[in-house]
Amino acid sequence: MPRMNIESLKRQAGEFAAGFVESGMTVGLGSGSTAIFATRRIALSLQRGELSAIVGVPTSLATEAAAIKLGIPLTTLAERPRVDITIDGADEVDPAFNLIKGGGGAHLREKIVAQASERLVIVVDDSKLVDQLGTAWAIPIEVVPFAWESQAAHLQSLGAKPRLRMDGDAPFHTDQGNFILDADFGPIADPAALARQLEARAGIVEHGLFIGMARDVVVAGVAGVQHLRR
Ligand code: 5RP
Repeated sequence: MPRMNIESLKRQAGEFAAGFVESGMTVGLGSGSTAIFATRRIALSLQRGELSAIVGVPTSLATEAAAIKLGIPLTTLAERPRVDITIDGADEVDPAFNLIKGGGGAHLREKIVAQASERLVIVVDDSKLVDQLGTAWAIPIEVVPFAWESQAAHLQSLGAKPRLRMDGDAPFHTDQGNFILDADFGPIADPAALARQLEARAGIVEHGLFIGMARDVVVAGVAGVQHLRR
């Protein structure tokens, strides 16, 4: 699909989901090129007076910078431990609303905010819907830089092809200063079991599998926007 059309689908999904936000809410602000449309829409509604008393919890340093520019008041989970709604993107969504996230490397903060949220709304264009996770995307796995090669070998032993994410000639660094291994497992038969295996390994800080967390998925396709609920 031409890039302009994908942009338009992302915009439609993000702006639709922004309509779930109500005055007075604490809102998790997702990361990536789809979630930013929701954030911009929330900012516009605040400017127009259609929304008031919103505070945002950004899921990455990039989103924090964007939200400050847009004039959205921000808070932290220390001040507001419960988030009413979080709107975030995803790289893949399966029929049970399990997700692969972390295309932007922000999945650790995204998962922390999602776990603090009453409602996680995922916004995607329809190219992100898959029958099985791992079909088109590797799982981003945040690892501490110390002995990262040992985590790469471990992922290989679990059947993955891991690749160190790069930023030019140097390893990509997350907001926490860690590395990302993009681990291609191919289509994953049991994502929950794989998530448990990954969580058992020292040195793996967080993986990009989000199991049973999303309540709503807003999908934009050429035929329009669909709101899927669990
Ligand atoms: C960042 C993420 C993003 O939400 C995910 O990669 C989707 O991004 P985009 O909307 O740009 O395709 O998980 O860590």
